[in-house]
Formats: sequence, structure tokens, C-alpha cells
Amino acid sequence: MAEKILIVDDDVDSLKLIGLMLQRNGYEVIAAQTGGQALAKATNDLPDLIILDVMMPDMNGYDVCRRLRGNPITQQIPIIMFTAKTLIDDKVAGFEAGADDYLTKPTHPAELASRVRAILQRSSAKRQGGSSKGSTIGVLGVKGGVGATTVTMNLGAALLNMKLNPVIADFRPGIGSLGITLGLGNVNGMSKLLARSTGEISADGINREIATHTSGLRVLSCTSHPREGLITISPDTAVAIIKELRNIGKPSIFDLGCGYNPLISRISTEMDRLIVLVDPATVTLNMARELLQELAKHNRDRIHLVVVNRAQINLQPPWHEVEHLLEHEIRAIISPSPELAYQAMEAGMPMVSFQPNAIVSSQLNKLAEDVYKVIESK
Ligand SMILES: Nc1ncnc2c1ncn2[C@@H]1O[C@H](COP(=O)(O)OP(=O)(O)OP(=O)(O)O)[C@@H](O)[C@H]1O
Ligand SMILES: [Mg+2]
Repeated sequence: MAEKILIVDDDVDSLKLIGLMLQRNGYEVIAAQTGGQALAKATNDLPDLIILDVMMPDMNGYDVCRRLRGNPITQQIPIIMFTAKTLIDDKVAGFEAGADDYLTKPTHPAELASRVRAILQRSSAKRQGGSSKGSTIGVLGVKGGVGATTVTMNLGAALLNMKLNPVIADFRPGIGSLGITLGLGNVNGMSKLLARSTGEISADGINREIATHTSGLRVLSCTSHPREGLITISPDTAVAIIKELRNIGKPSIFDLGCGYNPLISRISTEMDRLIVLVDPATVTLNMARELLQELAKHNRDRIHLVVVNRAQINLQPPWHEVEHLLEHEIRAIISPSPELAYQAMEAGMPMVSFQPNAIVSSQLNKLAEDVYKVIESK
């Protein structure tokens, strides 16, 4: 697939000229003529590189650059500042605003092409993971059906949109639904891995079992095939898989299903962040209180409480009372959206990809940004 480059310049001739040069080099080109347009296109089209003019009528290139760097969705996109200014102070200002490189107008087509190529190569190497270890995020429902699979899938899709390279996984042979919900059919790579002994778990073996969704999201799932339900999971094997995934998923997100059991007790401590899902019904909240107390014994600083408000409940208690009861801050609220949840599932897509502008999608994107910020700051 051709790499996508966003060119931002208020001068149409300059846009056409650079656009043509890049198209000749095989890149897909999109254009914006104002700073505002550039910000909108950067978030919606997620280009692989942005070439940014400094002097624009509505907002200068430095401000656009700073805004792009301040938004987790766009902060990783490489930026080349492109301008007629040649003073050293302007270059410094560009780098301070977060630019990766600087080109002065007029530029020779060969220089433009080689800088673009170098920057894209560097950023794709970074995206492949480099040497740093990936984080692990567990998603655990207080009870069944509260939305663990939905949140896992949407977090994965949102983090992929943020130019990360996540893997989503479940440990639920016989009741796994990640693969089938994403329209991948009966992918059961994780069941195959779970049937192995600890010594048989390797990075290569895991990579061979990963399936890829059309969006590029990597999936390691079990199926609901009843015979898979007969697999006895050894917590040691599960832990070995999680440890290897730290080198593969950047990050790895685990659909942990619901409730507490020996497996959850063991692997919850392998998670850098544990997202606990509740709904606002009184019964669920009482269940949540007990589960959270148990989890907090080993995971106090890592719990990320999220309310999936799947059903519209008019008599629900005020949020501060819920926080008081559960002794945890509510980090996100996901609104009811049955129609979208249904349509996205029928299409085999996460809601954030199926309808990016829906309220529930922006809530899920925010959750992804929040989780990402917390794990990055560790
Ligand atoms: N915000 C939402 N609004 C409306 N429906 C939702 C929402 N989130 C999820 N759903 C729907 O609720 C149902 C259950 O969600 P999901 O399968 O994610 O729950 P789960 O916790 O993984 O369930 P299980 O315990 O069976 O694994 C699905 O049909 C899903 O599409
Ligand atoms: Mg599920």
C-alpha cells in the first residue's frame, strides 16, 4: 500500500508542484490549504508523513505542529516543515515545535524525495517496535456481557489508528469471540498456544498463530467451538504467552472475560493496566465492589475503572456515589449505543472504525488515549 503524505500549503501552485513530485515517487498525496484543514485531515486520514508550510493565513505551521504533537492520535506522525524562511531561528522554532526535519523552498525534487524516504523509513522502523518492550492491558468485566470483548476490540482499533501496532488476544477457549466478532471466522491461534506446555511457547510460534483483520489489527483469539472448552489452561503457559507478547504487541490488549478465578488471579498481575468494566445497575455495582476489593490487594495502582452504560438507566445513582462505593475513580463512561453496536458487529468491525464520529467512538478513542498516556508515563 502506498504511503500517504499530507501536504499543507496555502499556495495552490506549491501544493500542485510538491504533490506531483511525490506522486511520481509512488506516494498517495492529500492536501490541505489552511492550518485548520491540516489538523482535521491529519486526524481523519492519518497520513504517514506531513509536509507543513510555516506561513499560512489562519494558523502558522509551528502552531499546527504543536497541536499535532499534543494529540495522542497524531503525535507520532513525522513532520517536515517546508518554508521559504532560511533563518536559523526559524529552523530552531520548527524543531522546538516538534518537527522532525526542515526543508527550505525552493527545494530540488531529488532532495525532497530523499528526505521523505529517509523519514518514512525511520518512522516505519520505529513502528515495527524497535527494542522497547510493549505494554499489557487487561480488560475484565465484573459480570458476563458487560462489554469486555467490545472494549478490547475498540481499544485495539483506536490504538492502531494512533499508529501503534497492537495485538488483541483472549484466553477463553470454548467461549472466545474476538475473531468471530471481527469477521475473521474461526481463528483459534490462542487455543492452539494454550494447549502447549510452557517450554513450547516462543515468539515465532506466537507470530504464526496471529490472524490479521482487514484494518491491520492483529488478533490472537479462541473460538466458541465446544471442544476448545475442554482445554485445561495452565496459568504458567498463559504467563509465558503474555511475556512473549510484550515483544510482539505494542501494546497487547487482553479480553479477560469476566469474574475472578485462578487464571485471572495469576495473570492480572502481569497486566500493566487492568481495565475493569461495570455497568451502573445496583446489582453489578455491588458485585464490582467485591471484585475490585479483591483485585486491589495485588493491583491497586493499575486499576482503570470504566462504566459501560449499555442500558439507559434513569434511576442510576450519581457518579460520585458510584466512585465512593467502588473506592475507585471512574476513568471513562461508554454510552449506550445498541444500534451502532449491532451494525458494527454485523459488519465485522469495531465501532470506532465503523462510525468514527459517533459519540461512543469518541468515548472509546478517549479511553485509548487515557490508557496509552498512563502506560507510557510508567
Ligand atoms: N455501549 C454499548 N451500547 C450498546 N450495546 C453494546 C455496547 N457495548 C457493547 N454492546 C453490545 O453488548 C453485547 C455484549 O458485549 P460483549 O460481547 O462485548 O460483552 P462481553 O463482556 O465480552 O460478554 P461475554 O461475557 O459473553 O464475553 C454485544 O452484543 C455488544 O455489541
Ligand atoms: Mg466477550
